[in-house]
Amino acid sequence: MHNRRVVSGMRPTGKLHLGHFHGVLANWLQLQQEYDCFFFAADWHSLTTEYNNTEGIADSIRDMVLDWLAFGIDPQQSVIFCQSAVPQHAELNLILSMITPVSWLERNPTYKEMQENLAAKDLSTFGFLGYPVLMAADIILYKSARVPVGHDQLPHLEITREIARRFNYLYGEVFPEPEALLTESPKVLGLDGRKMSKSYGNAIFLSESADETRKKVMSMVTDTQRVRKSDPGDPERCVAYSLNNTYLSNDQKEEIGVACRGAQIGCVECKKIQAEALVTALEPFRCRRDELTSNPTMVDDILADGSRRAALSAAETMQQVRGAIRV
Ligand code: TRP
Ligand code: SF4
Repeated sequence: MHNRRVVSGMRPTGKLHLGHFHGVLANWLQLQQEYDCFFFAADWHSLTTEYNNTEGIADSIRDMVLDWLAFGIDPQQSVIFCQSAVPQHAELNLILSMITPVSWLERNPTYKEMQENLAAKDLSTFGFLGYPVLMAADIILYKSARVPVGHDQLPHLEITREIARRFNYLYGEVFPEPEALLTESPKVLGLDGRKMSKSYGNAIFLSESADETRKKVMSMVTDTQRVRKSDPGDPERCVAYSLNNTYLSNDQKEEIGVACRGAQIGCVECKKIQAEALVTALEPFRCRRDELTSNPTMVDDILADGSRRAALSAAETMQQVRGAIRV
């Protein structure tokens, strides 16, 4: 009955950018057609690293979910909710924490890696170590059979599977072991040629105006070996082209390829063409987002309804869990 279920969460980081668009969101949109999807804002997960910086989380959730909806994640087809509105996530997290050996968490490669990457923050907390337990609770609470994850999340999913197995071993078969749906996300380059990321300040946001997007494209790095217009260039070495080529028609790609290699077009002129292609492709998204924003309670209403539906399913699982452990 539950094997068509897919669960996936995203930490509320605020407005989404083109990297999310080509990665996670494109993937969710496809899954939505094939599975019963539960998509949630993982705001308790944000607390694992942002516990001293919580004032922006509520707005971040709204901005992020608005982007989901504008992109086409559909509350009629999928359950869209907020983790902290479904207290069963915390309840199951507590129970799973009782049966999870600390050594499983300590040897998790992302644990040490993230502590090192975020050295300025004190991440020696109980909650940060227990991140994968909360993630396991998120997933098995809905008896999800599949979880779309990127490579970086695979160790977490492995821990989820181990925890589910251990629960079943101790108390009887309650949880399916969720399988990873490994999602390929193309590496989207930002304005400066590094991976697009909000924290690098090199991102193009879905919610920004057409003019802002144009300006950003015009500021992008091109083929750095092409110093003058009379030097032949190569689109393969061009950061702008690598971001924008998916929005160009085949004819445009062909023309730009020839003109760039033949030194017949300047980069400014070329990027204008690229920018228009991108802006045109994002236009329907922008319209839908504006429409959604004109109804100030829309996102909250959708989250409230989704959270109610999620909680119904979660309560059912928790009843079985309590029955199984007899506490
Ligand atoms: N850990 C995920 C991330 O950082 C977010 C997440 C939380 C998640 N719970 C989940 C993803 C459950 C999939 C399933 O991106
Ligand atoms: Fe990039 Fe176009 Fe300049 Fe070639 S002409 S380097 S594709 S911007």
